[in-house]
Amino acid sequence: MIILGIETSCDETAAAVLKDRKEIISNIISSQAQLHNKYGGVVPEIASRKHQENIVPVVRESLNQAGISLNDVDGIAVTQGPGLVGSLLVGINFAKAVSFARKIPLTGINHLEGHLLAPHLEHNISFPNITLVVSGGHTNLYLVKKVGQYKLLGRTRDDAAGEAFDKVAKLLGIGYPGGVAIDKLSKKGNPSAIAFPRPMLHDRSLDFSFSGLKTAVLYHVKEIGINGLTDSAVTDIAASFQQAVVDILIEKTVLAADEHHVHAIAITGGVACNSLLRMKMNERAADEGIALFFPSPVFCTDNAAMIALAGSYRLNPEEKFPFFLNAISRWPI
Ligand code: KG4
Ligand code: ZN
Repeated sequence: MIILGIETSCDETAAAVLKDRKEIISNIISSQAQLHNKYGGVVPEIASRKHQENIVPVVRESLNQAGISLNDVDGIAVTQGPGLVGSLLVGINFAKAVSFARKIPLTGINHLEGHLLAPHLEHNISFPNITLVVSGGHTNLYLVKKVGQYKLLGRTRDDAAGEAFDKVAKLLGIGYPGGVAIDKLSKKGNPSAIAFPRPMLHDRSLDFSFSGLKTAVLYHVKEIGINGLTDSAVTDIAASFQQAVVDILIEKTVLAADEHHVHAIAITGGVACNSLLRMKMNERAADEGIALFFPSPVFCTDNAAMIALAGSYRLNPEEKFPFFLNAISRWPI
C-alpha cells in the first residue's frame, strides 16, 4: 500500500510517500523557520501564505523522489488538526482536490497521533509502551496500549516544553526555533551555573509545568541587567535552563513507566531532537533496564512520513470522498 502524507499544521510544508508502513520512499520538508526567525515565533498569516506557495512543488517533489505518479497512490493522509487553521486548510484543501479529481481515498489525521507513531517508522517497539510527545504545542505522556489506543497520563498545565525553549530563546535574543539555538549554545555553557526551579519534579503527578521555570529565567535576566548579559552569561543561562527542562522530562517519563510497569519508552516531537535529553535519557534508561526509542531528528520535528503512517491505519478504501473534512484547531487525544 502506497500512502501520500501531507502536513501543513504549523510552519513546515511537508509531503512524504510511505510504502507498506515501513519504507519511507520520500520525505520532503520545506521549513519556513528563516521567515519567522525575525519575529521570534510563527506568524500565522505568513505561514499560510507560504504553505500556499509551497504545497504543489513539495508534493510534486515527494512523488518525483519516490519515482511514482498519483496513479500509484492508494491513499492520501493529511493533517486535519490541531494547529493553525489557516495553515491546516492549505494542506486539507489541496488533499481534497487531489482526492476528488483522482478518486484516491483520503483521511484526516490528528497531528498528535502522527507524532505518537513517528518512533514506529524506524523501530519495532513493543506494546504497551510509554510515549512522551514533547513539541512546541504539547508535552503529553501517554500509555500506548496499541496503535489507536492512547491513554493520556499527564500533560503540561501551562506552557509546552518547546514553547518554553522558544520563549526563553526569544528573551535571550538568540533566535527561532529556540530549542535548536539553546541546544547549540548550551554545549559551551555550565548547566549548574544557575539553580533554576524544577516545578513539580518530585510530586507523584505525571503533569508538567514550565511557565514558572520560564519566569525564573526572566527574573534572573532582569536581576543581572542588560550589562550583565554577556555572551558567557547567556550560554550559562541557556545550559542551566535546558538542564532543568531535561531533568523534569526524564523524571516524569521514567515515573510513568515505573507506575505502569512498562519496559519500553519512546520520546517524540521537536524537543526529542535535544542532544542533552537524548544523552541523559539513554543513560537513565540503561540504568533502569528500559528499552528507549527516539526517532531520527528529521522524524521528531514536523514531517509527513508520520502522517502517512497514521494514515495507513486510518484509511478506509470503502469510504466515500470526505467532503466534510475540515480543519480542527484544538483536538486533544
Ligand atoms: O514537533 P515540532 O516540529 O512542532 C510542533 O508540533 O510543535 O516541534 C517544534 C518545537 C519548537 O518549540 C522547537 O524549539 C523545539 O521543537 N525543538 C527543540 C530542538 N529542536 C526543535 N527543542 C529542544 N532542543 C532541540 N534540539
Ligand atoms: Zn508537531
